Amino acid sequence: VRDGGGIRHDPLPLLPLLGQATSHLGLIATVATTFYPPFLAARLFSTLDHLTKGRVGINLVTATLHQAAQNYGYPQQFEHDLRYEMADEWTRLVTELWDSWEPGAYVADEKSGVLVDHTKIHTIDFEGQFYSSRGPLNVIPGPQRKPVICQAGGSPAGRAFAAKHSEIIIATATSPDAMKEYREDIRQRMIGYGRDPDDAKILFLVSPTVGDTDASARERLDTALAAQAADMDAKLAGMSYVTGKDLSKFDLDEPFDPGQVNGHRSSAEEYTKAKKTLRELVSSNSVSTGVDLVGTPETVADTMEELMDHIGGDGFLIILPVTRRHIAEITDGLAPVLRKRGLIRSEYTGATFRENLLAF
Ligand SMILES: Cc1cc2nc3c(=O)[nH]c(=O)nc-3n(C[C@H](O)[C@H](O)[C@H](O)COP(=O)(O)O)c2cc1C
Repeated sequence: VRDGGGIRHDPLPLLPLLGQATSHLGLIATVATTFYPPFLAARLFSTLDHLTKGRVGINLVTATLHQAAQNYGYPQQFEHDLRYEMADEWTRLVTELWDSWEPGAYVADEKSGVLVDHTKIHTIDFEGQFYSSRGPLNVIPGPQRKPVICQAGGSPAGRAFAAKHSEIIIATATSPDAMKEYREDIRQRMIGYGRDPDDAKILFLVSPTVGDTDASARERLDTALAAQAADMDAKLAGMSYVTGKDLSKFDLDEPFDPGQVNGHRSSAEEYTKAKKTLRELVSSNSVSTGVDLVGTPETVADTMEELMDHIGGDGFLIILPVTRRHIAEITDGLAPVLRKRGLIRSEYTGATFRENLLAF
């Protein structure tokens, strides 16, 4: 293994460290609802909300592979849509725990010596099909009371879950029209769940390639894609992870169709819809965004602006190789151009992650 594919340190202890080193950024870590005991997650994220002074978020996923499930003592991974039913119940339970302290329950009155008003703290007595918990949470609510909830559902079950619970939705779509459709679908679903659609930000995954000239940026991307195509094994391993199928057993030059998968179902469907061979898929941009963000900061900013006008809002999530060069190209190249146009903000007005998220 050359790229350390399976090495994934636990991101949660990193959050307070990042909180110490920054003052405004929202800090999100991923938790797999399928395996994480809900009470522990609720307590942990309340504590992290204190430690980051109200800047924590939780990204809810359901995990992918049978091998992952086996680490937690299950013979195999649960079926894709069932995982979302479990995730829904999990999220309702942790939300009840975060609400088990009413506002004003924490009194801390030195004169009377009263720390908490017990009449404002309640058991939840949650009895679900998959999870149960007595409650209340044994932690004082943090500045946000609950973390910002993030999710990346693409399948119908995933979209329903995201629309019901999420405040940030990470979306992948293969064309500007597909992005618009995705956003409108999620907003409609949110209304169906009695939510204000403006209470969630839908962020489309993009991977810009920024350069001094349009031609040099294009050349860099072409070189990177050629290197990726040459390293077929690494790309196949990545796609095998996403689909949950061993793609080394598939013909590279046949149109690729993995059938229904138990992994990231919507991503697998995008591969099939592309009607490409596995070899062609492997040599195309690994972030299958269907949008071309390649060129000078001005060129990329033009396209981002046009795209956002077409989609209707809310923003992008930039995914890049994590190198100082790539980060500097965004922060010192692209960001100033976007800021000059008023497309990104120049200051934070709120104190908490949620306030800042919803302010722009
Ligand atoms: C950038 C990104 C990172 C993701 N990371 C994880 C992860 O670490 N664990 C996981 O189980 N799923 C992860 N997912 C998968 C999503 O939770 C979800 O399964 C996927 O977007 C497909 O949606 P679907 O399950 O509704 O088909 C990630 C998705 C995206 C877009």
